[in-house]
Amino acid sequence: MSPRLVPAGDDSTGRRPDTPLRITVDGEPVTGVAGQTIAGVLLAAGRRAWRRGPSGAPRGVFCGIGVCFDCLLTVNGERDVRACRRRARDGDVIDTQSREADQ
Ligand code: FES
Repeated sequence: MSPRLVPAGDDSTGRRPDTPLRITVDGEPVTGVAGQTIAGVLLAAGRRAWRRGPSGAPRGVFCGIGVCFDCLLTVNGERDVRACRRRARDGDVIDTQSREADQ
């Protein structure tokens, strides 16, 4: 299998590379493009993990389809949002969360 990039015009997710967006992650600005999920923005920015599981192991995207809940974070004050399922919106304020915060 080889990697391939779907041209934006053929991308059924609605990705629009000509429309930049900016989100804030733990106070740091991160840029992406309209149509990306929050996980997509984070991965494109080089972040592979953004929380820790009960064992302390880093967690980020595992399934990428909303099943495993490994990619949870807080979006605009709403906890436990799956980053792989939520489309990023310009101005979103993202906070990473860890297991300790659940107690
Ligand atoms: S990566 Fe599995 S639910 Fe988001």
